[in-house]
Amino acid sequence: MISAPNARYVIAAIPGDGIGVETLTAARRVLDVVSAESGFVLEWQEYPWGCEHYLATGAMMDENGIELLAMSDAILLGAVGRPDVPDHISLWGLLIPIRRSFDQYVSLRPARLLPGIESPLAPSRAAIDVVIVRENTEGEYSEIGGRIFRGQPHEQAVQEAVFTRVGIERIARYAFDLARTRSGRVASATKSNGIVHTMPFWDEVVAEVAADYPDVELTRYHVDALAALLVLDPARFDVVLGSNLFGDILSDLTAALAGSIGIAPCGNLDPTRRFPSMFEPIHGSAPDIVGQGIANPLGQIWSAALMLEHLGEASAATGLVQAIESVIAAGIKTPDLGGDHGTEAVTDAVIAAYLAQGSAP
Ligand code: NAI
Ligand code: MG
Repeated sequence: MISAPNARYVIAAIPGDGIGVETLTAARRVLDVVSAESGFVLEWQEYPWGCEHYLATGAMMDENGIELLAMSDAILLGAVGRPDVPDHISLWGLLIPIRRSFDQYVSLRPARLLPGIESPLAPSRAAIDVVIVRENTEGEYSEIGGRIFRGQPHEQAVQEAVFTRVGIERIARYAFDLARTRSGRVASATKSNGIVHTMPFWDEVVAEVAADYPDVELTRYHVDALAALLVLDPARFDVVLGSNLFGDILSDLTAALAGSIGIAPCGNLDPTRRFPSMFEPIHGSAPDIVGQGIANPLGQIWSAALMLEHLGEASAATGLVQAIESVIAAGIKTPDLGGDHGTEAVTDAVIAAYLAQGSAP
């Protein structure tokens, strides 16, 4: 396979909690083979952060965690979350600080129905090949707001959504640039009928950006109708652009339509490359199956492929995605995809499929 000669990348590995540890171990095994075959070096720095760290120290990561991560070329994360730690602590103590400190303003979530996977949709409808482009640093996920009159009958909570021109413009540009490399279509999720300040602003700025891309077709959908159409007619969609909340929800939907959240990957990108980007499967720590050896490693491995692509190792990335596809097509699947193989067997099969490409005539 073609290689970038002598390239060396420092990868920060954060296994996190639950099956994150299992899937990250699997992805590292695969990546070590892929890098050796392709002639680049991955230097791993592992950070044992997550809920266990929180229970032991009171913090999800080290105090200088962001500085440590800043020295890496990319971050590969498993999943965080444990039933005995409130989810807002694990999210706001680790994932959100990383996304925001490193200005990872794009959450890129491809979903494609691969041959050998059954979609919950009827086969005649199930043509799914979309990329959700989710705004990842502002919007509805904001710290602005508060609660007053706790415990009293008139208790109140206020949560402000924050949308900025810069924030909307840059995520829209990313989506339009991406659409140019795909089908030339962008669907923007809005809700300007109900949310009367931020969403009309979103629509306006997206339309302004669209004017710079006359070759890309922009369609606006209210997010509720968009959700229904994704189920009824997914083939209509290619690049789907959404705010932090809308993109979050739509990407779980498209992942489910494509067969399982166990295979869906995610890149949290700083397209300016000032900071490291972070790659993680979209699934969580799956406490219900932890320790059973049946976690699907493909979401993590596919995320690793997105990481390789971001690092500039495009041919290794393509080869890895092809290896994933051939393993699924061969029926080597974990139980979430209806198979009876374990995490290790699927990982071994991906490695074997990758190596087989290199030896093809
Ligand atoms: P989840 O994604 O962990 O699990 C949902 C369902 O999908 C479970 O039945 C699980 O067994 C299954 N599943 C997930 N990943 C799988 C895989 N790779 N292979 C096979 N089956 C898989 O979501 P849930 O249950 O809502 O959350 C569990 C914990 O994970 C919570 O603490 C939550 O906050 C956290 N979480 C963390 C995320 C992250 O680290 N980015 C994202 C989503 C949830
Ligand atoms: Mg989500």
